[in-house]
Amino acid sequence: MRTIIEPFRIKSVEPLHHTTVEQRERYLEQAGYNLFGIDARHILIDLLTDSGTSAMSTEQWAGIMRGDESYAGGESFFRLKRAADELTGFRHMIPTHQGRAAERILFAVMCKPGNAVPSNTHFDTTRANIEFTGARAVDLPIPEAADTQARLDFKGNMDTAALEALIAREGAQNVPLAMLTVTNNSGGGQPVSMANIEAVKRVCARHGVPLYLDACRFAENAWFIHEREAGYADWTPKRIAQKMFSLADGCTFSAKKDAFANIGGFLSTNDDRISHEQTNLLILTEGFPTYGGLAGRDLEAIAVGLEEVLDPDYLRYRIVSTGYLGRHIADRGVPIVEPPGGHAIYIDAARMLPHIPREQFPAQALAVELYRHAGIRSVEIGTLMFGAAARHELLRLAIPRRVYTQSHIDYVVEAILEVNAAKERIRGLEIVEAPPFLRHFSARLRRVQ
Ligand code: F0G
Repeated sequence: MRTIIEPFRIKSVEPLHHTTVEQRERYLEQAGYNLFGIDARHILIDLLTDSGTSAMSTEQWAGIMRGDESYAGGESFFRLKRAADELTGFRHMIPTHQGRAAERILFAVMCKPGNAVPSNTHFDTTRANIEFTGARAVDLPIPEAADTQARLDFKGNMDTAALEALIAREGAQNVPLAMLTVTNNSGGGQPVSMANIEAVKRVCARHGVPLYLDACRFAENAWFIHEREAGYADWTPKRIAQKMFSLADGCTFSAKKDAFANIGGFLSTNDDRISHEQTNLLILTEGFPTYGGLAGRDLEAIAVGLEEVLDPDYLRYRIVSTGYLGRHIADRGVPIVEPPGGHAIYIDAARMLPHIPREQFPAQALAVELYRHAGIRSVEIGTLMFGAAARHELLRLAIPRRVYTQSHIDYVVEAILEVNAAKERIRGLEIVEAPPFLRHFSARLRRVQ
């Protein structure tokens, strides 16, 4: 059989609510043309993020009931620790309430003002947490990644020559760690090859710079390696993931992605001294090291999710279904970041809407129109999110895990094609008010007259 089906059936359902175009116009105005400000009950299909939006399995819900809520030494912590240890092999693991809490602790312990922290591409919270310590977050994607239309197997890779040059320029003592984001979210959800992880590790090791993975989507990355990289076709996703982690000195992990959990994360390291300092900071702001800001039941859900996500049937369906959305719009003239990523499809809004200059946020204008037209929520990853540092004007359609069926995705395809057919009518936006950090979450905008 060639048809790939959702490898699950549905036991519990949530109703979706339709709204009219007139209602959505009003909601947009009230929200300052910022989709973060729209109530979820007014959204039909929510592709804002794949983070914390997964459907949990029966085993995860069973784990929720098993959760041990002891303040210290709860069994749920040890269950999570066993699952994380088996997968990552890192010596120390502390749970955190989500990925950015792990980032804050990691960078607070490792970074000093003036330091530089390279990555293939930092995610926005990662960048903000590095810069909050006075260090600089430096993106070193491969040069080919700048071309959204280039179809490379591993477009998420880091430019290792640029990494060498950065370490030579800054001095290794000013580079407290290097990071690799797998998959590369801000770079289009593109995977990083095992060969690139190995090459980055070699450069880091030569200069005594520890390498950390931002491992939110490690399983999707492992599947791409299985499918595309020579030598891995016979490896299970789990074995590939284990090898990826074995090349790193630690990781930050948001369990809201590739662990199907609605909240949670962890921070791992092989460095005993760093771990000690991290644990002290954890107690100060997150909680005792055997729960780290989470309930015992959350730890259970993560432990189960870490195993489920490596199921080859799930990963095949996941990557193929994301590609289905991408191919169906790209092959009918909508420019996407090629090839389709793992967790999301990114529309190149600068290319799609050349009549809207980047100062007028073309990707945000597209997000607003897609909501107005069809009740679909997506997210801008461009000048509104990153300011002058933005490399592209992208609209991300992130696919929650195990949540939407193929007919939902067919509706999304139809809506995007209709918006594309009338794209000349879309107008740009301007900012009315915005906070100094992470402005895309709360900025208010209006349509340019
Ligand atoms: N790193 C990457 C690559 C991410 O995509 C995210 C979150 C984080 C770190 C932070 O994790 O949300 O648990 O604190 N990304 C979400 C997104 C928000 O929509 O892509 P968190």
